[in-house]
Amino acid sequence: MSSEHQLSLFGESNLQASNFDKKELIPTDAKIPIPTGVYADIVELAQHCNQCHRCDLGNTRTHAVIGRGSLKAPIMVVGEAPGQNEDETGLPFVGRAGQLLEKILQSVKLNTEKDVYICNVNKCRPPNNRVPTNEEIEACKPYLLEQIRLVNPKIILLTGATAVKGLIGDKRGITKIRGTWMEWEGRLCMPIFHPSYLLRNPSREVGSPKWLMWQDIQAVRAKYDEIVNNEL
Ligand code: URA
Repeated sequence: MSSEHQLSLFGESNLQASNFDKKELIPTDAKIPIPTGVYADIVELAQHCNQCHRCDLGNTRTHAVIGRGSLKAPIMVVGEAPGQNEDETGLPFVGRAGQLLEKILQSVKLNTEKDVYICNVNKCRPPNNRVPTNEEIEACKPYLLEQIRLVNPKIILLTGATAVKGLIGDKRGITKIRGTWMEWEGRLCMPIFHPSYLLRNPSREVGSPKWLMWQDIQAVRAKYDEIVNNEL
């Protein structure tokens, strides 16, 4: 792997270092893979993300947005990409969509300090909150895979079509697949509506997106309880 395609985190001297292709260097070309198991913890991963230029989103970010919640959470929520509030604070889902997400989780007594870890497919904000491109998703994917490895959740909730496509590659519309359990790499995944979509569709009528979300989050709670009971 050529050093020209890598960004040194700790100065030029490390380009000659023996651990050349490991933690000190980020491949700046998105086509160069970041191997599984590179990061010892989320702090190391976050340092890399904040120096990352594997795609052009690195040029316009204020902060890379890595995750929040419990680093040992049994449930991971994956969103699309940071918005303005998230870019400013460096924390995912802290705007209006995030507040709604918190309410949804709290409605079934899931606690973001204890039970849940929240992150996104893309760590940097796309300009004007556009949907990340396939190239941007692929460039960032190793970070998401490392987060999943490190947090090791049993259940992954994929909010919206981009999260589903970004992690498991399923390109079907979210309306078709929401609420269905899927297995990915030995983990249970459920596609759910993105909270922003619920903000645009506030009706609570039977069959509405909000009503469907209520069904889905109850199914998640029930599955989580089942897993915990089976482990006892
Ligand atoms: N929407 C997302 O998908 N992620 C965030 O972090 C905020 C809004």
